[in-house]
Amino acid sequence: MTINKELIEWVNQMADMCKPDSVYWCNGSDEEYREMTDQLIKNGTFLKLNENKRPNSYYCISNPADVARVEDRTFICTVNEEDAGPTNNWIDPVEMKNTLNKKFSGSMKGRTMYVIPFSMGPLGSEISHIGVEVTDSAYVVCNMKIMTRMGKEVLDVLGNGNFVKCLHSVGAPLEADKKDVPWPNNPEKYIVHFPEEKAIWSFGSGYGGNALLGKKCFALRIASSMAREEGWLAEHMLIVGITPPEGEKKYIAAAFPSACGKTNLAMLTPTLPGWKVETIGDDIAWMKFGKDGRLYAINPEAGFFGVAPGTSMDTNPNAILSMNKNSIFTNVALTSDHDVWWEGLTSQKPTKLTDWKGRAWTPESKEPAAHPNSRFTAPASQCPVIDSDWENPKGVPISAILFGGRREDVVPLVYEALNWQHGTFLGSIVSSEITAAATGNIGNLRHDPFAMLPFCGYNMGDYFAHWLSIGKNADQAKLPKVFFVNWFRKDENGKFIWPGYGENIRVLKWILERVDGKDSVVKSAIGYLPRKGAVDTSGMEISPERMDTLFEIKKEAWLGEVEEIKNYFKIFGSKLPKELDEEVKSLEERIKQI
Ligand code: GTP
Ligand code: SPV
Ligand code: MN
Repeated sequence: MTINKELIEWVNQMADMCKPDSVYWCNGSDEEYREMTDQLIKNGTFLKLNENKRPNSYYCISNPADVARVEDRTFICTVNEEDAGPTNNWIDPVEMKNTLNKKFSGSMKGRTMYVIPFSMGPLGSEISHIGVEVTDSAYVVCNMKIMTRMGKEVLDVLGNGNFVKCLHSVGAPLEADKKDVPWPNNPEKYIVHFPEEKAIWSFGSGYGGNALLGKKCFALRIASSMAREEGWLAEHMLIVGITPPEGEKKYIAAAFPSACGKTNLAMLTPTLPGWKVETIGDDIAWMKFGKDGRLYAINPEAGFFGVAPGTSMDTNPNAILSMNKNSIFTNVALTSDHDVWWEGLTSQKPTKLTDWKGRAWTPESKEPAAHPNSRFTAPASQCPVIDSDWENPKGVPISAILFGGRREDVVPLVYEALNWQHGTFLGSIVSSEITAAATGNIGNLRHDPFAMLPFCGYNMGDYFAHWLSIGKNADQAKLPKVFFVNWFRKDENGKFIWPGYGENIRVLKWILERVDGKDSVVKSAIGYLPRKGAVDTSGMEISPERMDTLFEIKKEAWLGEVEEIKNYFKIFGSKLPKELDEEVKSLEERIKQI
């Protein structure tokens, strides 16, 4: 098992508190995976998909009350409230432990407690970190097997070292002789982080980021707090390699809020001839400076937990091909021959389906067949365009950083920051229409700085300062250039103006040319815009007038935006770095002069 006394002691303590029937240490083998999936099938949680169509893959529907991250039930419990900051829910750690001790007490009765040792990042890499999740959910074990490097080898690498303690329970103790439900969960949910202790306690949910604790809880909330202390960056970013025809490959990282296009950009199929795009990661980037002064990024994950709706052979063939075997599908629809379907997968809807609530569905049905936040879990290694360096322990050098969000108006297709400080400001002003990735008011506009609003494990004001200091301490010539993109601007009929997906390579092309120093910009009030015609639209059906609307900077709208930003910045009080205050003031001045 393990020589790590702290680990053994912690597991024993957790078992004493949660009172599972048994404790099982996961070894991560394929045989173990089969046993888990067999057991989930027996319990009615999993259904095996058609082996001829999708080998070794499983279908699963959750309880309708447990379908997305619960941001209002997510807490950062630091000793001082100020360290959690205005964008996080805070409760005193002692008070929270008292509450949670009661919740977890006996919470695993009648169940097995699985111990999952996992590595975020390639096993043994200097950038990687190890966590151990104890959970009473076999569904979580199966997903963690795909999403992380997990099992016995991790314990070997861990030795006597430190690990992040991740406690998870669905919060549904099973009375003796009672039959289990397919998706046990608890109406009361707690997703709790203790950054000072490097511990996570998650109660009541079995879904996604609430339960697969290596992902948002560890690799973003806890890791962002570690990164601040140690001088690196843990970000909600995809990482992708782009090779121009006969040119040199460059890597970029991009932060977009949940369900705003990271997975799609990470593996896009370029429509421009001769261009190549290769995936490093689709959701999280850990970035550190190398000895050469450049910023290097790794993907701490080993799989994709991607949004299903809208994913098709037209929009994202590489995602579709990644999930053609060894995958798990949650809350999508089931076809009559036991394969999966979701809105957007095929242009023609199947005539008959079972929807994500287990009901018969036809194209006449009022509700979508798949939940808008339904997801596939697929091994990254199965991605046809996975980059040969995706497991390189040193990471890949980042040439550009993109921020973006879902904005139907105001924000242009692409613009470039004037410098790192302005780029940090651009990160801080990301706002986006709310998607189904979290429970809440879908469609409403909200500020989501750096796409980290739900994921920053400390005071967001300090986070802004950390970004500024990263820039100040770096060799300016080696810092990535910063850009802002928006694929989601709409016309007067509510239709997207920009076709997006594979066509986004045209924007990436302009960005890489800028990285190479090409003079293809005009300075505008908000930053550098592409010079007219600088975004390659060859072979594409879009009129010059429609292109112009994508770059239109409306004075009144931007003055409104500035007011919004000023108001928003107030919540940070004295924690708002003065540089960002200066940036918003100079932006206002420049817009007034339009
Ligand atoms: P998380 O996994 O929640 O962090 O989401 P993500 O940022 O990886 O988003 P994803 O790539 O899964 O895209 C979410 C939704 O946006 C899907 O329904 C996509 O089809 C859609 N989408 C992605 N890229 C584009 C684009 O360029 N244009 C348009 N119109 N839609 C897009
Ligand atoms: C997100 O919401 O940004 C996701 C999905 O990537 S989850 O893993 O549920 O956080
Ligand atoms: Mn995400």
